[in-house]
Order: sequence, then C-alpha cells, then structure tokens
Amino acid sequence: MSTSGATSSGPGPQVKRGLAGVVADTTAVSVVDEGAGQLLYRGYPVPALAASSSFEQVAYLIWHGELPEEADLAELGRAERERRQLPKPVVQALSSLPVTCHPMDVLRTAVSMLGAMGTAGGGDLEASVDLWAKLPTVVAAEQRRRRGLAPVPPDPSLSYCENFFHMCNGEVPDQEVLRSFEISLILYAEHGFNASTFAARVVTSTGSDLYSAVTAAVGALKGPLHGGANEAVMGVFDQLEGPADVEPWLEGALASGTKVMGFGHRVYKHGDSRVPTMRTALEVIARRTEEGRHLLGVSDRLEQAMRDAKGLYPNLDYPTGPAYFLMGFDTPTFTPIFVMSRVTGWTAHIMEQKANNALIRPLSSYVGPARRELPGRR
Ligand code: COA
Repeated sequence: MSTSGATSSGPGPQVKRGLAGVVADTTAVSVVDEGAGQLLYRGYPVPALAASSSFEQVAYLIWHGELPEEADLAELGRAERERRQLPKPVVQALSSLPVTCHPMDVLRTAVSMLGAMGTAGGGDLEASVDLWAKLPTVVAAEQRRRRGLAPVPPDPSLSYCENFFHMCNGEVPDQEVLRSFEISLILYAEHGFNASTFAARVVTSTGSDLYSAVTAAVGALKGPLHGGANEAVMGVFDQLEGPADVEPWLEGALASGTKVMGFGHRVYKHGDSRVPTMRTALEVIARRTEEGRHLLGVSDRLEQAMRDAKGLYPNLDYPTGPAYFLMGFDTPTFTPIFVMSRVTGWTAHIMEQKANNALIRPLSSYVGPARRELPGRR
C-alpha cells in the first residue's frame, strides 16, 4: 500500500484529526446549523417538534422523512407495543452477565444477540422498529436487576414513555415528568454525523448488517466524550455541595487540565441549540423539590463560571443528566436511555447509507520509521 507523501520531509497530506470539519457524505435525516443555532429533523425545527409531538411521531418522521398520518401512527404504535417482549434466551443471557458491568455493556450484548437470533423478520425498517420497541425493556430490566428487583413486564395498554416508567418502577408518573422525559427523547433522537452514528455508517458501508452497525454505535455512545457525558455530569455535581463550591472547584479542575463534563461540543461553538428546550424541561422537574432547586442553583452557577473562565457552553447532556436523576433513574441508566432514543437516528442513517453506499475508508498520514531492513538480513 502506498503511503505517498506521508514520510517525506516536506509538508505531508493535510491531516484533519478527529475528522474535524470534514464533510464525509450527504444526509437528508437532519441538519445541525451552528451558524443559525438550529437543528432540523427532516426539515422541521426540533424545538417545535419537542413542543408539540410525541416521541412516536418523531421516530416515524426520522425513519420515513414525513410526519405520520393518524393511521401511520396507529400502525407504528401497534407494532411497537407488540414487539416489546424479549425472547427468553436473551433474557437468560442478559441475566447471566455480572451485575457489576455497565448497563451499556448489557445493551450492546442485547443488540448483538437480537441480531444473531434474527427474530425481527422483514427488512431493516422492521428491525429498526423491533430494536426501538425492545431496548426500553432491556434498560428497565437492567436498572431493576442492579437494584435486586425482578423485571416488570411491558404493558401494551401504555404509550412508549408510560410503559418505560412502568417497567422501571411498576408505576406511571404524572404528566409533567412524562412530558419532560419525552422531550429529552425527542432531543436525543438524531444529530447528524456524530461519533456513534458515523460508527454505524462505517460498519454499514462494508456491507454488514443493521445489528452489527447498532452494536458498534452503542459502543461509541458509551464513551464519556459522547453519550456517556450525561452520566459523567452527575460525577461533577457529586463533588459540589453548594453554589459556593463552584468557582474553587472549577479553578482546580481547569488548572489540572480536567475536562468538565457536559460542556463544549465539536459542532456548536456558541451553544447547543437543544439546551434551552431541555433546560426548560429540567426546570419543570427541578422546581418541584428542595433537592431539585438546589441542583438547579449549582448547575446555573457552574454554567456561568464555565462561560466566564473558558467561554464554553453546556451541551445537551448537561441539563439531561440532572433531569434524569430527579426523575429517579440511577446514573448508569442515563446513557442507555440515550440509546433508546438515538436508535431511531442510527437506523435511519444505516438505511440511508445502504441506499447509496460508498465504503468509508479514509487515509492516514504515516509517522512511523522510514523503510529499514530486518536485523541480520543485509
Ligand atoms: N472542559 C474544559 N475544557 C474544554 C472542554 C470541557 N468540557 N471542552 C473543550 N475544552 C477545551 C479544550 O481543552 C481545548 O482547550 P485548548 O484549546 O486550550 O487546548 C478547547 O476547549 C477545544 O477542545 P477540543 O477538545 O479540542 O474540542 P473538540 O471539538 O474536539 O471536543 C468535546 C468536543 C465534546 C469532545 C469536548 O468539548 C469535551 O470533551 N467535552 C466534555 C464531554 C462532553 O460533555 N461530551 C458530550 C458532547 S455532546
């Protein structure tokens, strides 16, 4: 293989580390417009979707490119409710995993196993709906397993969000909690060529299958620089007893080169367009309890301090982490909830990649030793 130019003494090929600024392909799924500070799913502004749509409607939009008619939505809802149960071998395999592993490991294993069993039937759209329906069952059962509780079976009379809470806690919360949760799912559903979506597209581009691509995407989302940040944010709040702790803590963190989780973004350099909507959803939950109001106070102070110190803005994970905490989810469940939502975007991208495929295979700039002979073979 040629490494033309890579080892020459002159300037080598331009390296775009982390593929920053590289436009790798076209997509019709969503656009992140940093200049305009907006995110559109299939052309629709996401705050408008969050204000008026259900997560089921948004999932349909992401997959099909248009909002559903009433009959389409009913059909999708019926399919989702029918597909919530996990096959027995999957339940058995997941319950044999050590309870000390991260729930993202459980989810990654579940996706891989569902693919191996091939129970979805049909094509990629059916498989997408099947995964979307089954992942909440995995996430809820795993939170309960870690708490030493038996799983609560899905209830087909309940909506997607209602059923998820039911499977987690055996009860459905009030409308304020449900709606704030649903808004978080709508905001998390899709975000262009982020690392996990790109991972899914890379796997798909080799001609591999949807489950392999989603398995890779779950692995990519787990990292704290990506989806894992919504859990890592709670690690920051755990270190801050009150607003007065913020500035001294931040000074120490920045001096030691620590990245403050929940801040910064590869694309948004002047603020994440999804944050105002999620911040409002967090506020709805936080203002209900003393603990919530306290957390909000610390969160606001840190947001201001980060802007003053580094000119950095919070990303979506910053308000979502505390919102999930106040809704009663265990911290290791936060990123798996992100998966429940983003699986819609991932699978839309997988189908888009397949429909107009080009193998994704970038080049590298070689910086190793120049050609040399093996010892003793001159
Ligand atoms: N805390 C402290 N400093 C940060 C920071 C953070 N969260 N995010 C970025 N920076 C600083 C970097 O240290 C760097 O400073 P320097 O120029 O003085 O070296 C500068 O801002 C640019 O950061 P860089 O990491 O090169 O930007 P990026 O586009 O590659 O990174 C993230 C984007 C998301 C990986 C990065 O902001 C980050 O690690 N954030 C925390 C994790 C997180 O919340 N992830 C969820 C993203 S939605």
